[in-house]
Amino acid sequence: MRRGSIVRMVIYGVLAGTVASLIAVLIPWLPPSASEQMDRIEFTFWFTTVICIGIFAIVAAIITYCVLKFRAAPDDERDGPPVHGHTGLEIVWTAVPAVLVTAISVVSAIVLAKNDDAGDNPLRVGVTAQQFAWAFDYPNEDGEPLRSGELVLPVNRPVKLTLHAQDVIHSFWVPEFGQKSDAVPGIETTLAITPTKVGSFSVVCTELCGLGHATMRAAVTVVNEQDYQAFLERLAAGPAAEPGQGGDTGEEIFTATGCGSCHAFEPAGTDAQVGPPLDDLAGAAENAGLDLEAFIHESIVDPEKRLAEGFQGDVMPKTYDRSLTDEQLDALVQYLVEGQRG
Ligand code: CUA
Repeated sequence: MRRGSIVRMVIYGVLAGTVASLIAVLIPWLPPSASEQMDRIEFTFWFTTVICIGIFAIVAAIITYCVLKFRAAPDDERDGPPVHGHTGLEIVWTAVPAVLVTAISVVSAIVLAKNDDAGDNPLRVGVTAQQFAWAFDYPNEDGEPLRSGELVLPVNRPVKLTLHAQDVIHSFWVPEFGQKSDAVPGIETTLAITPTKVGSFSVVCTELCGLGHATMRAAVTVVNEQDYQAFLERLAAGPAAEPGQGGDTGEEIFTATGCGSCHAFEPAGTDAQVGPPLDDLAGAAENAGLDLEAFIHESIVDPEKRLAEGFQGDVMPKTYDRSLTDEQLDALVQYLVEGQRG
């Protein structure tokens, strides 16, 4: 091969590689990392991307060179030369990709194994998913776990999440943490996360779980150890600590249960329209021949019994008589009764 040809091919390769690199680097393909696991996922991503850019540059250079150099004249009707393979070349283009693909799978396997390992003494937090809300249970030495509607995690400490679903399949994902796992009814799945940045993030449900799926989010806050202890104390001190946290007042239950994901209710400041609005239920109760309190109670535990006009059935979970205690249910009913207009 002449030196001129090699120089031209190198130029095409550098151009193609530069364009591909700019596309890879200038577009923010991944969210900024906020966990050790996401750092490893990023490493795997870039390891693979660099290999791909290299292969792309070589292939693009050879194709461009050949298309320009060996182009046939428009009136050239002759057959091409009878070329018959090249054993050396075939060995190279089989062996090199085999080595690269093996390297990618080894790196991926190591990252998967490490990302699944929360170490010997992780902080254990239970995650419960239901249409369309998340709840988080913190271990409590003196009894029942402490429930929160917000996930608060100490920075730089390995956490092991145990995921449960109450109704259908949901999926737990915090983009900045990288890790993702389904929450499946009847089984327990786990997820290891070691947050590395103090800040606020969101849990996003990534499994289509019903009409309110898009609204199924919860706040995640990563704090320093001191703030984490303060959070635990607030949680242990009981309800009314902070909005969005689990508790026993009607408003807290409304928020933690995710009612606002589907229903408009002025006192709670929600305006979703998946289900009927809850601000003016007197008429509906009268039609049902029930007093307001009984009607609201029935609508929560047995939503299919009387469907509001213009709304379809099989949307609202039928699990609230099991997922809420009697006291919580009463508090929620009272909250709705007191929030009626007029
Ligand atoms: Cu839960 Cu989508």
